[in-house]
Amino acid sequence: MSETRNKEIMLAPLAGVTDVAFRIICEKYGADKTFTEMVSVNAMAFDNKQTDEIMFISDKEKHANIQIFGRDLERIEKAVKEKINPLDNVKEISFNMGCPAPKIFKNGEGSALMKDLDQVDKITKTLRKSTDKIINVKFRTGVDDSHKNYLEVGKMCETNGIDYVILHARTRDQHYQGKASWEDIRILKDNLSIPVIANGDVFTVEDFINIMDETKADGVMLARGAMGNPFLFKYIKDYLKNGSYQKVRPAEIVDQIREQYELSLLYKDERLVVNQMRKHVGWYIKGLPNATKIREKVNTLKTKEEIFSLLDEYKDVLEEENDRE
Ligand SMILES: Cc1cc2nc3c(=O)[nH]c(=O)nc-3n(C[C@H](O)[C@H](O)[C@H](O)COP(=O)(O)O)c2cc1C
Repeated sequence: MSETRNKEIMLAPLAGVTDVAFRIICEKYGADKTFTEMVSVNAMAFDNKQTDEIMFISDKEKHANIQIFGRDLERIEKAVKEKINPLDNVKEISFNMGCPAPKIFKNGEGSALMKDLDQVDKITKTLRKSTDKIINVKFRTGVDDSHKNYLEVGKMCETNGIDYVILHARTRDQHYQGKASWEDIRILKDNLSIPVIANGDVFTVEDFINIMDETKADGVMLARGAMGNPFLFKYIKDYLKNGSYQKVRPAEIVDQIREQYELSLLYKDERLVVNQMRKHVGWYIKGLPNATKIREKVNTLKTKEEIFSLLDEYKDVLEEENDRE
């Protein structure tokens, strides 16, 4: 355990999920770093309101960073120099070479870059010469099982001055299915001298212990495991400190949902928040009593007052159930 104690635990970039409110909450529970969802360098070339919103980092955050994706070298350089370098509160830039979405793959961006090592070489050199900020590259094991080239991509990152890499240990073909191959993370770690962050299938403290044990990575990035469960950061940190951790009570989960609504309302308008929070509520209450009924109800409500009153009622029910146990 002592070997693991100083390893970084990060919140992954998650499109549609890691907005400002969720990042603040993950930091509160101990995330050492967080990332915005990926932002297109093409969109950044224009003054695009939606892009500015995604890139917005609040003064409540100390460890938030920006993830970008793209393929065009000039646009990458421009985005980094003009949009990110001036942001003093952003210490790191993550570059996405892992996104499997068909629209992005077809444009030769995201994970499609792994098919084009020449472009990977140019992009990593461009990134390095464009900024003094810390840069990481996040990639997969390869495009498919017969083209696993994560070692070559990792070596190229290292040679070109990238500070660390994050391996999501699945191929592009797998999207998010099948088990992540932690063995590949171990192989990458054995072959690089820059830090390697492990990503894929960490949903519990036990998964964290196992992935660190198997890969010897320099840190872990939590993704789906943190959705509706930012407490996982605290469980892991408590475990590292004390050798044990205690799960939050169901009623505390409801408090956390409420806090996320309140934080979101500071940064976005009510209609958007009510809409965007629906999926978060579903993740938070999964497995709790009456979860389906509450989720269905939340999906029909339109104002924060209605939602807060439902949450209050739900909290009372959960507390009563807890007292009975
Ligand atoms: C809803 C969703 C959105 C994602 N968005 C991004 C993204 O914007 N940038 C990125 O690098 N990876 C993105 N990913 C991939 C995750 O960061 C992570 O690599 C992947 O989910 C594997 O980790 P896990 O098995 O722990 O979930 C996304 C994944 C999901 C499920």
